[in-house]
Amino acid sequence: MERTLLIVKPDATARNLIGEIVRRVECSGFTVEQITKTRLGMEQARRFYAVHEGKPFFAGLCSYMCSGPIVPMVLAKENAVSDLRALIGATDPRRAACGTLRYDIGEDNQRNSVHASDAPESAEIEIAFFFGREQHAAPSH
Ligand code: CMP
Repeated sequence: MERTLLIVKPDATARNLIGEIVRRVECSGFTVEQITKTRLGMEQARRFYAVHEGKPFFAGLCSYMCSGPIVPMVLAKENAVSDLRALIGATDPRRAACGTLRYDIGEDNQRNSVHASDAPESAEIEIAFFFGREQHAAPSH
């Protein structure tokens, strides 16, 4: 059994799509092991997306991720990392395959509704970021 991290992003929480996203991951064979609603501060967002520092979209990505509540969750399944990437589709919803989460509910490159870990190693780091002993995100309000 493998674990991965899915985040419901601010554009999707604002449209009340948390339940729809959870329903679709559960229907695809994933088990939700942990889930929380939270908000990122700018420092936390910069740390979470540190691998993208220096890219032209980095500042916009970080402020967007702080713009509203997010819902990180730990999902378990065999081949969870690659199966979840397939389920959510390409980063840009306009290029994502028909039937993927981002195709169906994403809006653009930035407002693409969900984030999923890209490798088992990053899944471990990202799960610890939100659910480890030293949690980085503030409670939602
Ligand atoms: P995510 O899976 O959360 O990982 C990094 C994020 O950066 C990605 O989803 C997008 O939301 C964002 N991103 C990647 N490329 C671009 C881009 N060209 N313009 C704006 N945002 C981008």
